[in-house]
Amino acid sequence: MGNYTATAFAHPNIAFIKYWGDIDPDLHIPANGSISMNLRELFSRTSVSFDPALEHDQFTLDGRPIDKTGLERVRSLLKKVRRMAGIELFATVESHNNFPMGTGIASSASGFAALSLAASKAAGLNLDEKALSCLARSGSGSACRSIPSGFVEWQAGGNDEESYAFSIAPPEHWDLVDCIALVSQDEKPISSSEGHYMAKTSLLQPARVADAPRRLFLCRQAIHAHDFDALAEVVELDSNLMHAVMITSTPPLLYWQPATVTIMQEVESWRKDGLMVCYTVDAGPNVHVLCSREVSGEVTDRLQKLSGVQKVLVAHPGGPANFENGYSNT
Ligand code: DP6
Repeated sequence: MGNYTATAFAHPNIAFIKYWGDIDPDLHIPANGSISMNLRELFSRTSVSFDPALEHDQFTLDGRPIDKTGLERVRSLLKKVRRMAGIELFATVESHNNFPMGTGIASSASGFAALSLAASKAAGLNLDEKALSCLARSGSGSACRSIPSGFVEWQAGGNDEESYAFSIAPPEHWDLVDCIALVSQDEKPISSSEGHYMAKTSLLQPARVADAPRRLFLCRQAIHAHDFDALAEVVELDSNLMHAVMITSTPPLLYWQPATVTIMQEVESWRKDGLMVCYTVDAGPNVHVLCSREVSGEVTDRLQKLSGVQKVLVAHPGGPANFENGYSNT
């Protein structure tokens, strides 16, 4: 076995068709398939060193030691890697995000994707994309979509071997832009994991899940055909369906703030006026505003002027999890 250290990079992703609710919460086997786009300008960089001198696993995030739930999730992924590689060493994990925590951008997706690649390599394994995607999924569901490149589909699969993500188009296929309007940078009160667990308490979840194959088909088709209008329709519907499930769960989960709704309404009226733009919202109040490259400057300006918008981050379609930082600013 070579040296016990490796570093990897991965981008977060924004879901066009959302993952919400599990059939197996421990393995993160989702109730429905999902589709996303990697976000090129944002990334996590994670280094893993298996070290004979360590007596337990250690994890720092942006330089701060993490314990409890965060450490437990990292530890259980490392356990899997140790089992696969047949080693018994503990590891130091150092992860850094180039985007601030608490911006509502899922650092768990990029973090667990980068961790899967770095930890497996450091342990001497050379996993293929499918195996890496499954490993990342076991850490955080949406992390499996940050392993492949560009526009990515996660097939629900129904079991540990068949629930993984693959690329449906490379990043250069479509120059979409995600303008992320930040309205709050507070930590969310209910985590996605708790939300997935609560999804089944909503009367609407069975209907959302039953219709998912149709929305996946429409989204796939819109991406392949570069059809922005079709994409906008299915992306907004899917986001609204997920939030309908959230607000009708027990207890109800309302992630939106007044500024969230203002942005959604503005985006709709801009589209009616002919701007190629649509919104999608994850488990938080910030709004991902998707648009074509030609109008991204205009969209960013308009978003910055709306009351309640603190900042706008801009991201283009990104590549796969990798040992190099795949981001170049060209
Ligand atoms: C709303 O992947 O963060 O962003 O598996 O518990 O880590 P865990 O959940 P996570 O859930 C993502 C939820 C979402 C929708 C999506 O990205 O598909």
